Amino acid sequence: MAELNARVPLIAGNWKMNLDHLQAIAFVQKLVWTLKDADHDYADTEVVLFPPFTDLRSVQTLVAADKYELAYGGQDLSAHDSGAYTGEVSGAFLAALDSKYVIIGHSERRSYHGETDEIVNKKVLAALKHGLVPVICVGETAEDLEKHGPSAVPVGQLRTALQGVSADADIVVAYEPVWAIGSGQAATPEQAQQVAAELRKLLADVLSEESASATRILYGGSVKSGNIAGFMRETDVDGALVGGAALDLAEFSAIVRFKKHVGA
Ligand code: PGA
Repeated sequence: MAELNARVPLIAGNWKMNLDHLQAIAFVQKLVWTLKDADHDYADTEVVLFPPFTDLRSVQTLVAADKYELAYGGQDLSAHDSGAYTGEVSGAFLAALDSKYVIIGHSERRSYHGETDEIVNKKVLAALKHGLVPVICVGETAEDLEKHGPSAVPVGQLRTALQGVSADADIVVAYEPVWAIGSGQAATPEQAQQVAAELRKLLADVLSEESASATRILYGGSVKSGNIAGFMRETDVDGALVGGAALDLAEFSAIVRFKKHVGA
């Protein structure tokens, strides 16, 4: 029987504003060695890192020189291609460093930098234009959850983020309830599954059935080695966007190797 879910799981580490370029080099080397010792198959579970912008050139050099199978990308990008936008980073520059992915609309960008759903949409289009796969973050606050229930806000955010996106675009969606980020209080696997299923329905509605079945939907928010297996058992959860635990080598490599304990 064909495997029900043919989507390759994706485990992503969002370093946020942690680790400078020298620390990044050391971390990436140790991570790759740890995964090699464990015979990790990157085709079986994809591993993606999101270091700060200033680390990307160092990570690229290391990955290219040693032919690592790790993918990486930026934590944000500009909606513009180039020009008078002090402090911003173009998707073209990320692509020139062989970035494969870019995080867009993380809740910290939304709340500390005023990113609206419309800005997120422009950034998604910019990422696709430059050949990057956007990891589109959506998620409700505790207040939203109380007022609107679990899926209305993330589904609405994704709907706007996808305006003008073609049906066959390569994208990743990350469901990250704001109340679960960095709080140590993760959603339950059932909660994550419920919202992921609604997000997948939306992908079918606004993109296509093919896109809905091919697109990876990640869960993020206090993911640890001790709870990853529960999320990965859910049909519509295809991976994780990991913050705090992505800075701990043992934790992150154990999360990447979730298949070793998913059946437990
Ligand atoms: P956390 O962060 O794993 O520390 O909760 C997740 C994220 O913000 O992507």
